[in-house]
Amino acid sequence: MKKDLLGLKDLSAENIQNILDTAATMKMILQQPTKKTPHLQGKCVVNLFYENSTRTRLSFELAAKYMSATAANITASGSSVQKGETLIDTANTINAMGTDILVMRHSMSGAPHLIAPLVSASVINAGDGMDEHPTQALLDMLTIIEKKGGIKGLKVAIIGDIYHSRVVRSNIYGLTKLGAEVSVGGPSTLIPQGMEQMGVKVFKSVHEAIVDADVVMGLRIQLERQKSGLFPSLREYYRFFGVDEKRLKFAKPDALVMHPGPVNRGVEFSSNVIDGDQSVINEQVTNGVAVRMAVMYILSRGGFEE
Ligand code: CP
Repeated sequence: MKKDLLGLKDLSAENIQNILDTAATMKMILQQPTKKTPHLQGKCVVNLFYENSTRTRLSFELAAKYMSATAANITASGSSVQKGETLIDTANTINAMGTDILVMRHSMSGAPHLIAPLVSASVINAGDGMDEHPTQALLDMLTIIEKKGGIKGLKVAIIGDIYHSRVVRSNIYGLTKLGAEVSVGGPSTLIPQGMEQMGVKVFKSVHEAIVDADVVMGLRIQLERQKSGLFPSLREYYRFFGVDEKRLKFAKPDALVMHPGPVNRGVEFSSNVIDGDQSVINEQVTNGVAVRMAVMYILSRGGFEE
C-alpha cells in the first residue's frame, strides 16, 4: 500500500477514480446542515506550508476539522525554520508529536518525496515547486465530472504559464489517465520542450488550443517564479493569450471556465469570463474541501493499493 499522496504520475486510474467517488460522498456530508463526521476521530493532521496559500491550506484544515481530526498549521515564517532548522529536522519533529497526516507545500520540487520515506505519517503533497499539485487536479476533475457527467472523451484546453505550473502537470497525468484529450497553449517561452511526450497537444496560439474545447482552464501567470524576459508585459500577455468573451467563443458554447486560483484578473481571463455563466471557479473551491476529505480518509485507512 502507498501511505502517501505525492502526485498523480504514479497513481493508477482506479486509485484516482476511487478518490473521486469518495469525494462525491464527502460532498454530500458538506451539504448537510451539520458538517461533522467521525472519519478522522483521534487522528492528527498538520499543515506544513513553506509557501503562501489560501485555498489549499484552509481547505485541508477545514476538511480535517469536519472529519473530527486534531488539525494544526505551521508556516515557515513563524517556525524554527527561521532559526536554521532543516526541512528534514522540521518534518521529523512534527512526526514525533504523533502526527498521522502531514500536508506539505514547498517551493522545492521533490520536497515531499524526500520527506515521505523518513516519517511514519502519511505525507500529502500540497504543491511542490514546479512538480505536482495532486489535490488541485483531483478537485478539478471532480468539478468536471459533476458538470459534464464524466471525463472520457472530453477536450480540455489548459492555457497560460505551462512551464512553471505544478497544476498543469498533475492535471495532465490525471485527465489523460481518465481518457480526456488535453491541449496546452501559451507563449512558447512558457511551454517546456517535450510536452508532447506527456500525451498532450501543444499550441502556440490560444484560439487553436481552445477550438471546440469542453473545458478551458486558465493557469496563473506566476510572477514570483518568472525570470525576466519570458514575455514583455502583463498587458502584452493579456492581449495575445488572455481569454476574453470573444476568444472563449472558439470553445464549445457550454464549455466550462476553470482556474485553480488565485486569478490575476485581466491577465489570464477577463473579469467578464471569470464572473460569467460558464465559470465554475467557485465550485472548484467547494470541491477542494470534499477532495481533501476523501484523500485524508483513504490515507487514514491504509492508503492506496499499489
Ligand atoms: N490553487 C491553489 O493552490 O491556491 P492556493 O495557493 O491559494 O492554495
